[in-house]
Amino acid sequence: MGHALIVEDDEESARMIAALVVREGHTAACAHSIGAARRLIATRRPDLLLLDLHLRDGSGFDLLADLDTLGDTVLVLMSAQAVPETSTGPPGLQATDYLPKPINPQHLKKLLSRLVEPSQLRLELDEVQERWRETGRFGHLIGRSPPMQRVYRQMSRVADTAVSVFVHGESGTGKELVARGVHDLSGRRDQPFLAVNCAALSPHLIESEIFGHERGSFSGAEHQHRGFFERAHGGTLFLDEVTEMPLELQAKLLRVLESGIFMRVGSVQLQQTDVRIIAATNRDAAEAVTSGKLREDLLYRLHVFPIGLPPLRERGDDIQLIARSFLQDLHHADGGAERFTPTALSRLSAYHWPGNVRELRNIVQRTWVMATGPEVGDEWLPPPTVAAAPAAAARALPRRDVPTARATMAGFDDTVPGALEPGGNELMVEVGTQLADVERRVILATYESCGRNKERTAAVLGISMKTLYNRLKEYRL
Ligand SMILES: Nc1ncnc2c1ncn2[C@@H]1O[C@H](COP(=O)(O)OP(=O)(O)OP(=O)(O)O)[C@@H](O)[C@H]1O
Ligand SMILES: [Mg+2]
Repeated sequence: MGHALIVEDDEESARMIAALVVREGHTAACAHSIGAARRLIATRRPDLLLLDLHLRDGSGFDLLADLDTLGDTVLVLMSAQAVPETSTGPPGLQATDYLPKPINPQHLKKLLSRLVEPSQLRLELDEVQERWRETGRFGHLIGRSPPMQRVYRQMSRVADTAVSVFVHGESGTGKELVARGVHDLSGRRDQPFLAVNCAALSPHLIESEIFGHERGSFSGAEHQHRGFFERAHGGTLFLDEVTEMPLELQAKLLRVLESGIFMRVGSVQLQQTDVRIIAATNRDAAEAVTSGKLREDLLYRLHVFPIGLPPLRERGDDIQLIARSFLQDLHHADGGAERFTPTALSRLSAYHWPGNVRELRNIVQRTWVMATGPEVGDEWLPPPTVAAAPAAAARALPRRDVPTARATMAGFDDTVPGALEPGGNELMVEVGTQLADVERRVILATYESCGRNKERTAAVLGISMKTLYNRLKEYRL
């Protein structure tokens, strides 16, 4: 049995919700204003806080702002408006669920059953956590660092709810793994998990890929096609790189998220869908809104439960843990028993991993291929890089006193004027430098350091000969 607090200024609906809660065997209290809610919370912290966003004496968020932590209280936002105003909420706020008003009794009942009954899922979640403590693996994710523990807690909390999840983080940080993990921990895990990369689909086909189309609805549509929404019914749809979705389609997506109803392209028949959305981006979502790439209302609708993935460089010992585990996977495949030397391990920790875990996986594979004995050394590892240059170097910059990033290269040769810092094999790049300029300087400096050997330069930079020729032509070399 749990205790619910209903904060709702419409007394009639508060009473109705309380009656539903009591009928399910729980206790309930009602508050019609923020002041009354504060007093009730002070006397008894509820297990479930059903919070209306629009109250007579302010926004429901005002109440949350001065509760330092919700502890184990499950927060559910209620709003008659389609879009929860997360924009005005306190930073870091995470609602576990969202109930559109008028309240659907079935939806509320489902929510309550989850609240107190240790379901099968809960038991399985305990097992996943147990395994994580033993092995450092949470589902497919490896890591013990505090920022990753926070991610696991968020995943566990949100998995078995209906709310949309918004995963953000740099490229290669594991956003898709998180999306799959949330799906696997939810009651939907026996249903499909479909991933759509919005950036990879052609703008002409993306609508029919997502919503499906009827035969003959456009030239080339020879058969009826079931879109992602239909195929993911009952399961989870992962919208990767959601900021790349055409704006017009974003409006349609918003409508489906609000109503659960959509139409195939070329059809007038409405289709009901029950799909859980997990969206992801490696861009700054707020910036995408400002620049007009992402609809603000869609962001609010998706952003009910944000999960931020830390870059690998901020995960401390996880770097070595993941590297060891990747290496182990490789020798499971070939029966060997390689391990990193201590120098190699510390070199891995010192690198700044711009490509995050994906880059780590690639580098572990490369070093494993190159290793000749059971010891995997640092010969093929990237050179240690430091995120911020020492203060003295920053001061030495002529224009602005800003932090700098260093790119380190092998075989320095200072023959390109202004490209390299004298006295080392490093290129100093001022934060805020135009990317084209950075590219030019790196290409030219590498070209010189490779003795103007074009093949080597292209190989070292990981670009094609054609690209290198084009660039050198551009730079009139
Ligand atoms: N914590 C982790 N433990 C083990 N493997 C991981 C972890 N995070 C990511 N990976 C692996 O790294 C690779 C990249 O992960 P993923 O595709 O989920 O990243 P992403 O954030 O979606 O990247 P992008 O923004 O480029 O789409 C995959 O091979 C994935 O299995
Ligand atoms: Mg991805």
